[in-house]
Amino acid sequence: MQGKAPSVSRIQKIEHVLPGYTNSLGTVFGGKVMEWIDIAGAVCAIRHARKPVVTASIDRVDFLAPARVGHLMVLDAFVNYTGKTSMEIQVNVKAEDPMTGEQFLTTEALLTFVAIDQNCKPSPVPPLLPETKEEKARFEEGKQRKLDRENSRKK
Ligand SMILES: CC(C)(COP(=O)(O)OP(=O)(O)OC[C@H]1O[C@@H](n2cnc3c(N)ncnc32)[C@H](O)[C@@H]1OP(=O)(O)O)[C@@H](O)C(=O)NCCC(=O)NCCS
Repeated sequence: MQGKAPSVSRIQKIEHVLPGYTNSLGTVFGGKVMEWIDIAGAVCAIRHARKPVVTASIDRVDFLAPARVGHLMVLDAFVNYTGKTSMEIQVNVKAEDPMTGEQFLTTEALLTFVAIDQNCKPSPVPPLLPETKEEKARFEEGKQRKLDRENSRKK
């Protein structure tokens, strides 16, 4: 199977923080952000695999700063690492003031998606071909995290 660079599947998705997505403090619900992250990650994984995917795990979601009603949420999803059938996707979320364009990082998440066949069994994905120095570093870090995940599942 021919390899693909992370840039081929990288996506940006924009959501608007509407009043219905916020709590009594006027800041966005974490669960809503997690839904957006899962969808952005899945779209990125599908673009890499060109196959249906399922979410296998979410390692961690770090909420670094709150976004407020009216903000735009800019989700940036890209593949860090691929195994045989799995893909580690990173999703970074920035909040943007729609009037000024000022952005700040609100959330970072790491998810693993697995490509599946017609019988819902794991199915091979194209190898990832990191190009930039940053992509190569993320690839090596992702490789180590996959090993760590496998070891922790065996415990
Ligand atoms: C994810 C799933 C397809 C894995 O199937 P499985 O038969 O257990 O898979 P295997 O043990 O053969 O592993 C297949 C790959 O998945 C990875 N994997 C399996 N479980 C994982 C987990 N919990 N977290 C991260 N990766 C996982 C393995 O490392 C392996 O990767 P590789 O092929 O790149 O080496 C299966 O557990 C499943 O369907 N889970 C439910 C998914 C779901 O409903 N998600 C929510 C809605 S989309």
